[in-house]
Amino acid sequence: MSYWGIMLKRVDTKLAVLFVCLGNICRSPMAEGAFCKAAQDAGLECEVESVGTASYHIGETPDARAIATAKKHGIDISGAVGRQLQGEDFRRYSHIFALDTANLAGIRSRAPRGATTKISLLLDAVPGCEGQAIKDPYYGDDTDFEIAWSEIEKGVNALVERFLEDGVQADFR
Ligand code: 4NP
Repeated sequence: MSYWGIMLKRVDTKLAVLFVCLGNICRSPMAEGAFCKAAQDAGLECEVESVGTASYHIGETPDARAIATAKKHGIDISGAVGRQLQGEDFRRYSHIFALDTANLAGIRSRAPRGATTKISLLLDAVPGCEGQAIKDPYYGDDTDFEIAWSEIEKGVNALVERFLEDGVQADFR
């Protein structure tokens, strides 16, 4: 096996999932919380985190409306702390899921050359919803957060199902 073969195998052995939105205070922390719960319920072992492409909310806890929406669904995301996407994430995570297409482009543009992380939209995992974005609820109201939550839930349930079938080889691109 070549040197690169060894490198790729090492990077690809562990399932580790990163959710990415713009601010890391609304959609991606909700996705992190929903995925964590779905994975736990299914007995799927996986590292999970979320980040933003922007730096606006580094160090902040999620938006109060995101915390309330998650709580309504039995999940506590109040302890999450905002962080920005960094180069190391492309080595640490086997899969990176963008919540919308602008952030998908932002993630791809920052990927170091040779990165093996599988980068896709969260809704690419849902048959019939490929290419679709989860709308930013930040400038909306509670209903918009609830809509985002239900789309996120659809996405993370599809992810867990596929990861149980295909493990770290699952590819949603
Ligand atoms: P998120 O929502 O990307 O789902 O966390 C946003 C949060 C903050 C801002 C925009 C979107 N902002 O402009 O501060």
